[in-house]
Parts: sequence; C-alpha cells; structure tokens
Amino acid sequence: MMPTTLEVQFAPAEYALMTGRDLRQTVCVVFDVLRATSTMVTALGHGATGILPVAEIAEALSIRQRRPEVLLAGERDGVRIEPNLAGGREFDLGNSPREFTAERIGGRAIAMTTTNGTRALRACAPAAAVLLGSFLNLRATAEFIEQQHPSHLLLVGSGTLDQTAYEDVLGAGALCDLLWPQYGGGAVSDSALIARRLFHLEQKDLLIAVAQSRNGRRLMAQPDLRDDVAFCVQRDLFSLVAEMGKDGLVSSKGRLEPG
Ligand code: MLT
Repeated sequence: MMPTTLEVQFAPAEYALMTGRDLRQTVCVVFDVLRATSTMVTALGHGATGILPVAEIAEALSIRQRRPEVLLAGERDGVRIEPNLAGGREFDLGNSPREFTAERIGGRAIAMTTTNGTRALRACAPAAAVLLGSFLNLRATAEFIEQQHPSHLLLVGSGTLDQTAYEDVLGAGALCDLLWPQYGGGAVSDSALIARRLFHLEQKDLLIAVAQSRNGRRLMAQPDLRDDVAFCVQRDLFSLVAEMGKDGLVSSKGRLEPG
C-alpha cells in the first residue's frame, strides 16, 4: 500500500503560499463552512448546473457580459454585493445557502465571488483534484475519498478575512475523523491531530460551537442571516460530491452508489 499523508491548513496565509508548492499528486478539500462551500453544495443539491468561483467582482461581471444567462452571486462583508461595488450592476444572490432554492437556481449556472471561500478554491486549482467540503455533504465526500484513496490529502480551511476560522477547523476535523481508518496510520500533520481533537470536543453541540466563532457571531447578529448558522451545521443533507474541475467549474459528481 502507498504511504499516505494527511494535512490540514488553518490560515489563509497558508493557501496564499500554495503557489510555491507542488500539488500535482495532492487532493485538496476546501472548507468554508460559513458559508461559501456550504452554499455551493446547497446550490448543486438544488439543481444548479455548475458554479464558477471567481476571486474578484470584476471577473463575475465579465462572465455575465459574455453569458447573460449566468446568475451572479456573492458577498462582501457577508451581505449581497451592492450595485455600488459592481459598477451599478445588481447581483442576483448573496452567499446565504437558504437563498439557493431549487426555484431560484435549478438548471442555472452561477458565477460566485466571496471574501475567502472562492479565493481558497482558486489557490488549490493546481491540485490533482479539488473537492468542496462542508457538514452538508461530509459523508459523501468521505466515501468518495475512501474509494479513490489518494495518497496525499490536504484539507484547507478558507478562514475569515486573514484569520483561521473555528468552523473550518471543525469541518476539517470531522472529515479527518471519518477518514482516520484509512489515513490515521500514515504521515499525519499535527494540524490534522488538532482539528480531529477539536471536533471530538465540540461534536456534541456543533451549533453552539460554530455560533461562537467570529463568523458565527457576525451572522447570529443579523436577523435575516442568523439561521444560516444552523443550516450550515446540518450533517449530510446532500449525498453529493462537489468538485472544481480543471476548467474551474464546480459541479456535482452526483449520488454515490453504496459500497
Ligand atoms: C467567505 O467566502 O469569506 C465566506 O463565505 C463569507 C460569508 O459568510 O459570507
């Protein structure tokens, strides 16, 4: 059996340095539990055909110019991008997973820009494969990784602005825990040990844990966004694996056959 590595990155500064790293043999799983990866997984679960994560508002606008059928989504400071930040143009959606209903996004492609999540995804683009992690599709993601059994696994926390995000460490820890039978015997970074241990400590009440995080507190303080926190800590709402392809498009690998 090939020797394996399991590593977790906590801080945005780490993915900012990833350009200097050879990721060609590595599978990355990007977590932005509050809320970008949770929202993208929800969009796919509700029938979006694909999501193009872009780092900048201008990139989203230029996609819309070329493809007027594409919906624009994203946030700055947690709220839907305002026309004054987008040259007077309206974004169709923000970054609340509860906005991405089948009625609004079913059958549609979406260009999306958020503060951290889309940047983390783009930073991982050179990897062998880039998956989107969230509590909402955790088991399906773990089962897919177990089936593929890549030798190098890197779980990337998107963070909040320039800091580590508690909820992303918990999400990565939960995935480490599911994958421990396959990866625990290989080369495991201390960050993976920390993430798994933290998840063990907090798993009894994830909502309370996540609501106390920096991003959780910010969302809980906004009446129209506070329910996003409870939404994003639900386990296995969707049996789908979300992958960002080499063309940069995030799409669903669909429901996995058992076993
Ligand atoms: C991000 O990508 O930085 C987050 O998803 C922010 C948010 O909660 O909207």
